[in-house]
Amino acid sequence: MRLFDSHTHLNDPAFEGEIEETIKRAKEAGVEKMVVVGYDIPSSKMAVELAKKYKDVIYASVALHPHDSDKFTQEIYDDLKKLAAEPEVVAIGETGLDYYRDYSPREDQRKVFREHLKLARETDLPVIIHTRKAFADLFSILEEEMPPRKGVFHCFSGGEEEARRAVGLGFYVSFSGSLTFSKKLQRVATILPANRILIETDAPYLAPVPMRGRRNEPAFLVHTARFLAELLNCNPENIGEITYANAEELFLRF
Ligand code: NI
Repeated sequence: MRLFDSHTHLNDPAFEGEIEETIKRAKEAGVEKMVVVGYDIPSSKMAVELAKKYKDVIYASVALHPHDSDKFTQEIYDDLKKLAAEPEVVAIGETGLDYYRDYSPREDQRKVFREHLKLARETDLPVIIHTRKAFADLFSILEEEMPPRKGVFHCFSGGEEEARRAVGLGFYVSFSGSLTFSKKLQRVATILPANRILIETDAPYLAPVPMRGRRNEPAFLVHTARFLAELLNCNPENIGEITYANAEELFLRF
């Protein structure tokens, strides 16, 4: 089985000193490619460095996480733009709105989300969207500032209506390990067209059943893939191929 982890954080301190073995385990589990996603300047830089070191296995995405929107400056924008010019960078993100945690004032979050969409337009890259409890504002900003290469709703947390709207706007929907324990997400997965679905670990967070509670890692993507295959009544190899091709289409076709 061949898999593409569309969203992982090997740049997280949880993997310090263990990146080499983690990638080896991922390959053994069939995970041939992954996008390492930045959430501030140091983690975005590290994503690019990893992508340069593990060419054709790791790709990078760069951004300031919505949680830290109150720390955004023009200097950060310029640094992200410089990083985004590296050939290994395939997306802008994770960016979006998080009204569940509310770690930054909502007004700052909306402003900084717009800045990231502007960056995606200027660099002609897709966006990786993080959103929780903020779909109404998120969709209205997205429609106003639409990046031409669209993007993906990562670790999707909405219902059927939000999923349909995301797909209607030309976006992909990515399922994390939460799919294995959320009935709501399982319903969403069954109504989406197969050519719009991605899968991800969001490691080190959100390990799928039967690894729940452990530190997640890209190798565990296989559990989410198998679960999705069973849910959609097809074989795991097919799900691997379809989601791999979708991720390639979004991130690697330039
Ligand atoms: Ni993430």
